[in-house]
Amino acid sequence: MRMVDIIAKKRDGETLTNEEIKWFVEGYSRGEIPDYQASAFAMAIYFKGMTQQEAATLTYEIAASGDQLNLTEIEGIKVDKHSTGGVGDKTTLVLGPLVAALGVPVAKMSGRGLGHTGGTIDKLEAFNGFRTELEREEFIRLVNENKIALAGQSGNLTPADKKLYSLRDVTATVDSIPLIASSVMSKKIAAGADAIVLDVKAGSGAFMDKVEDARKLAKAMVDIGNSLGRQTMAVISDMNQPLGRLVGNALEVKEAIDTLKGEGPEDLHELCLTLGSHMVVLGGKADTVHEARTMLEQVIQNGKALEKMKTFIEAQGGDPASVERPETLVTASSFIEVKADTEGFVHRMDAALIGRAAMVLGAGRATKEDKIDHAVGVELVKKIGDSVKHGETLAVLHTNKDENEAVKDMINRAYEIEEKPASAPSLIYDTIE
Ligand code: URA
Repeated sequence: MRMVDIIAKKRDGETLTNEEIKWFVEGYSRGEIPDYQASAFAMAIYFKGMTQQEAATLTYEIAASGDQLNLTEIEGIKVDKHSTGGVGDKTTLVLGPLVAALGVPVAKMSGRGLGHTGGTIDKLEAFNGFRTELEREEFIRLVNENKIALAGQSGNLTPADKKLYSLRDVTATVDSIPLIASSVMSKKIAAGADAIVLDVKAGSGAFMDKVEDARKLAKAMVDIGNSLGRQTMAVISDMNQPLGRLVGNALEVKEAIDTLKGEGPEDLHELCLTLGSHMVVLGGKADTVHEARTMLEQVIQNGKALEKMKTFIEAQGGDPASVERPETLVTASSFIEVKADTEGFVHRMDAALIGRAAMVLGAGRATKEDKIDHAVGVELVKKIGDSVKHGETLAVLHTNKDENEAVKDMINRAYEIEEKPASAPSLIYDTIE
């Protein structure tokens, strides 16, 4: 085979064979296919797309490019949840203990990542002593004993994705649905889940701004998962404003704990019940989402979900007393109110800008080397649809910095306030099965 022929075939809109895709992924991983040919290939895919079969094969081959976790020693149907990412998204922190309390095994590999806040691991490290470097045996034992464990990514998972993603990043080929779908799904497949629930975000703080594009991405990922033998479904949810009211690592842990107690913000509670119900059904613990939802509401009300969070934190070296009393988690030294200089109703929020503001305060990393300040972040007092009076507080910065004017300005710019009333956006746009 010659790479130039494969590029030409895709450029001309023809369908590639499984062998051609496999040959590309293997050759590129081994460094035998140069970046300039891989770039041309990615651009051809960007313009011509891929069939469902091509995308599934690409995913399978990327997953096969490195280690694949074998979780067969874990009893039960392992259901993974993946979110395409958004500001204030702490659903993993809630969903893990919530579905584990119903006996669905949660064997989660998570990353740190760059961005507005840390990844799930960074957030959990707000608990003093929490360990995520677990050997395989310990990880499996904890999931079998407690139904939940969370480990940092170890081993050599999907090296072809790392290489291809870096190339796409600098060749304007990130925004291709088959390439995004195969990149995300290859990681899920390699991480060993039996079933996958996807939360695909749409809106100003998401990868996909428009619901229609989010729907296309969700459909591509669901088709890939199902055709590779993992039961997969997706929920399309709103990211036109941050999820919940708190953005920042320890702050998000606090909000997750409130939600496990049934005292969280309405949007976070609702999204967790929606995603959780699908996880419980795919995990074989309920026949319908309706039944699953009732079961989830019960474990919130009877305290079992919170109890599971304590067990989970303690098993990995964290202090379970902080679950009982989240006010003992790290807090910032100053709280600075950002006040409205106009009045009316909040029509739009720039979720991405709020995320950047949290990052500037130190909640997230701009580069891999940056250190995270777990205490800091943004508390959103007003959200879309709320009325605002002149001088009222829009948001509160939780900060350890002396100089916060630039961040205040970012938050002010993130709120669009108009005279006429506005209503809150829908939270769930669609479900793709
Ligand atoms: N996230 C991924 O993991 N891959 C992509 O291609 C885009 C977002």
